[in-house]
Amino acid sequence: MLFKDIIRKKRDGGELSAAEIDLFVSGLADGSLPSEQASALAMAIFLRSMTFDEAGTLTLAMAHSGRMLDWQKEGLDGPVVDKHSTGGVGDKVSFMLAPVVAACGCYVPMISGRGLGHTGGTLDKISSIPGYDPTPGLDIFRKVTREVGCAIIGQTSDLAPADRRLYAIRDVTGTVESIPLITASILSKKIAAGNRSLVMDVKVGTGAFMQSIDEARALAKSIIGTALAADLKTHALITDMNAVLGDSAGNALEIEETVLYLTNSRREPRLDEVVMALAAEMLIASGITADHEDALARANEALVSGRAAEIFGRMVSALGGPADFMERYAHYLPKAPVVLPVHAERQGYLAAVDARAIGNAIIELGGGRRSVEDQLDLSVGFGAVAPLGSKMDGSQPLAMVHAADQDAAEKAALALRRACVIADAAPKVGPVIHERL
Ligand code: URA
Repeated sequence: MLFKDIIRKKRDGGELSAAEIDLFVSGLADGSLPSEQASALAMAIFLRSMTFDEAGTLTLAMAHSGRMLDWQKEGLDGPVVDKHSTGGVGDKVSFMLAPVVAACGCYVPMISGRGLGHTGGTLDKISSIPGYDPTPGLDIFRKVTREVGCAIIGQTSDLAPADRRLYAIRDVTGTVESIPLITASILSKKIAAGNRSLVMDVKVGTGAFMQSIDEARALAKSIIGTALAADLKTHALITDMNAVLGDSAGNALEIEETVLYLTNSRREPRLDEVVMALAAEMLIASGITADHEDALARANEALVSGRAAEIFGRMVSALGGPADFMERYAHYLPKAPVVLPVHAERQGYLAAVDARAIGNAIIELGGGRRSVEDQLDLSVGFGAVAPLGSKMDGSQPLAMVHAADQDAAEKAALALRRACVIADAAPKVGPVIHERL
């Protein structure tokens, strides 16, 4: 079978057979498939989509392209549960959620990704902690999960390697926003990581891959249906991504916000609502409690008591980061040399934000990738981001831009101003949790 014929078949709207999908996946995993052919097929799938069966076959083939973990063999004394986000701007939820849920008695082995398209990657963000090894190998991943309760790492070379390669290719070829490709990418990692229950955070809005609630619902249904067929119990929340989530966007800046959240110094309300809602879903999905109010109370107590902060600190140190990171994060995190306040062009209210444009501005600052090999500047991004509805009267900036030099800062400031709509009247700010599926 010639691979170009598989590309032509999908290009012309055909349905790929299991053997054709297997060839694609094995070629991705062992490196024998050239990137240009992988990119061409990704684009054909993007344009022609896949049937439910094709997406399921792709998911399982990618999951089995490397090692498979089995948590049942670990003899853990609590349930294993995970969450995954479809990606957004300023989405640092995993860093808060994993230790909160671990503090409630669950084990959370989290395999995360690098930045994808305009969205930031959990893996890139955690890499801004000096010494933290985001790809420690599966045996250390198992050990840290077992001993600390949670471990956030990136895809190791032996876990779903086909997705690892395809993810990097999609990131730079405009082939991210495809329901079957997102479904297979997320679930292959989760199935290979041995998860038995999963909560999905499906983002919708200007900073998400899904722009409308209908698209987000379709993605959520694709993920839930495909997961169910693979014996992975999955629920989803559709959450709002029409603005930066929390008050920062950028790798190290989001880790700083995480520490402030976990140490109860700052709980930005919309971010907090998403973290607590997902935590409650995870506690219910894993059988810790059946009652939603009880789940919320447990998650809140895990945070307020400081137990979640302690677990995050232990995870950081177990994965090679500083033992005193929670106390001295400001000393350890990389800092940008130029920090500039960006004010709105006129007075009024912050009525709408193009969060994708903000994500792209972070790429321009050097905080995200333009090509697969790009090295990131982890210090750059936007801090003190004003929430939707803020009154812009000249005192509060839209955000502080953190940049490598003045020129880059001014370009990012311009992009931020263009991304923000200022209105005369206070806008009605919509809910952050849209739906549960
Ligand atoms: N997260 C993933 O792991 N893959 C995607 O395609 C999108 C979000």
